[in-house]
Amino acid sequence: MIDNSIDRGARVYTPLTLRMYDWYVLGLSNRFAWGCPTRKILLPFFQRHMARRHLDVGVGSGFYLANSTISSTAEISLLDLNRNSLDATMKRIKGSNPRCIQQDIFQPLTLEGNVLFDSISTFYLLHCLPGTFVEKQKVIVNLMRHLAPDGVLYGATILGDTVNHNGFGRVLMRAYNGKGIFCNREDTLPMLRKMLESLFQQVDISLHGKVALFTVKLAKNL
Ligand SMILES: C[S@@+](CC[C@H](N)C(=O)[O-])C[C@H]1O[C@@H](n2cnc3c(N)ncnc32)[C@H](O)[C@@H]1O
Repeated sequence: MIDNSIDRGARVYTPLTLRMYDWYVLGLSNRFAWGCPTRKILLPFFQRHMARRHLDVGVGSGFYLANSTISSTAEISLLDLNRNSLDATMKRIKGSNPRCIQQDIFQPLTLEGNVLFDSISTFYLLHCLPGTFVEKQKVIVNLMRHLAPDGVLYGATILGDTVNHNGFGRVLMRAYNGKGIFCNREDTLPMLRKMLESLFQQVDISLHGKVALFTVKLAKNL
């Protein structure tokens, strides 16, 4: 049984909203609300760190994988709570024969055996999850257990009220946080850094508009 507040960040993705997702979220909102253009900033960042055994967490419409070159030796895995997101992404990259994992990322990964990934991406997931970065840390812990020793975990997340959102951003923040699609009003850059540095030896974070882009390597022994 999935907690209602967790499910609220996932159930908005229906076949219809996913069809509009690339245009509305990745096109309009990223440029005009969050100041982080998808093709100029986010897509190159996604591609730069993607390695052979790759896990994408919170796949949405599958835009990033569909717009990346996937080598014939790559092993791609997709994780999402929402079946619609997994199906939409699968459809776009079916030639790569991805493995699908449908689960809540607050739970340990349901993978058989000791599966490790060279790269794990989590784009625009953290700001959809309930709680502060203290609670969201559990998600990163679940993922770091499946990161190869020399692997990279990377992602992007929209920060909260402290980054001074513009008018369009404030309207979206109010609407999405009100409906539970986002839960990020209290997400700050220092708190993100503190959470990641408590888990990894190497942490890089940069801010593009209102979006924090992070890469972490070398998990600490907890
Ligand atoms: C905003 S979309 C991000 C899509 C894509 N990564 C991007 O950056 O455009 C968030 C995705 O995370 C999934 N999601 C939300 N909460 C989740 C959870 N608790 N566990 C796993 N997936 C979740 C949603 O179903 C959705 O596909």
